[in-house]
Amino acid sequence: MIKCNDVQEQARDLAEPIIARWRDVLACGEFILGDEVSRFEAWFSERCHGAFAVSMNSGTDALLLGLRALGVGPGDEVITCSNTFVATVGVIVAAGARPILADVGDDELVNAGTIAPLLSSRTKAVVPVHLRGRPAGIESIVALCRPCGVAVLEDCAQAIGTTIDGRQVGILGDAAAFSLHPLKTLGGLGDGGVLVTTNPKIAEYAESVRNHGLKSRGESAVFGMNSRLDALQAAALNIKAQYLDQWLDRRKAIAAYYDEALAETATGSDLGGFGQGNSFYHYVVRSADREGLQRYLAMRGIETAIHYPMPIHMQEAWLRSQPRIDLPNTERLAREILTIPCHHHLSDSDVERVVTTIKEFESLGLR
Ligand SMILES: Cc1ncc(COP(=O)(O)O)c(C=O)c1O
Repeated sequence: MIKCNDVQEQARDLAEPIIARWRDVLACGEFILGDEVSRFEAWFSERCHGAFAVSMNSGTDALLLGLRALGVGPGDEVITCSNTFVATVGVIVAAGARPILADVGDDELVNAGTIAPLLSSRTKAVVPVHLRGRPAGIESIVALCRPCGVAVLEDCAQAIGTTIDGRQVGILGDAAAFSLHPLKTLGGLGDGGVLVTTNPKIAEYAESVRNHGLKSRGESAVFGMNSRLDALQAAALNIKAQYLDQWLDRRKAIAAYYDEALAETATGSDLGGFGQGNSFYHYVVRSADREGLQRYLAMRGIETAIHYPMPIHMQEAWLRSQPRIDLPNTERLAREILTIPCHHHLSDSDVERVVTTIKEFESLGLR
């Protein structure tokens, strides 16, 4: 089976060095924060061009604390998209604000054009998502928002390695949230996340609130929560971080092969196009007979996935508390998209087999 994502194999590859590092952590007994966490944060900060990097126990918490740090609360509106993982919208509700969902372009990304008509005096923040590792047009979104006093929190959960003008995304808005979920290109062996910001006040707030607002062992400056990255996770991530660029290069090479080999097919190349700066967390094609293509690939041992089959505004969670809305482009794309395997465990022959099978499906006239 050619898997769409292979977390087991990745864990197996690095089991030895990770376990060796864990032995050191066990020996020193520093399980909460400490050296491993500081080292990981320093590495992440360097990766983000010296911005502050505050680790947390999930990308969801990084988004939530990011919104809170930006002052988002009851009565505020926050604009984001509907074709994302549910956490992006869930945190807006958790912060007590009202989510407003913008439609997306054919590249599946929100942009200044789809956000602009939704801005109002109640808008406190915009959360653009760098979906699938594609760089969203942050510069134009920031240019739209800043003059209106609207903050920008970048959802970088899928965007480690994604760049704009060669620089890691996450530093152009007011703050950014990264996920270290095991499925991510840089994933832990459990949950984790990072809030990145160039604003020292936001960093200070996040660092305090992720640890109960404690200023000493017995006294809190503000009420907070427990959202610390475990030392054992940080130790594993410090090992994995050494391989990140190698893994990203492999994804890009596979994507370049797909782009070329699928260019003349009806299924076509990644919906993000041949865009610069894409880190290819997902490589997504489109088919008028998406279910047929998915079944055909599965029968030939190729696993695919749909990210995401149901936009958030059509889900029960939304309809319980929010108004019915139509997002035509988001809904159309959700019916056509298919994520095909694109990760560093694929061999050249795996990748060739994916292409040949897609072409075979098309030549049989099954679509
Ligand atoms: C776009 C997006 N936002 C937010 C999250 C939430 O991150 P986490 O699972 O680390 O809480 C994810 C992770 O799946 C995601 O893909």
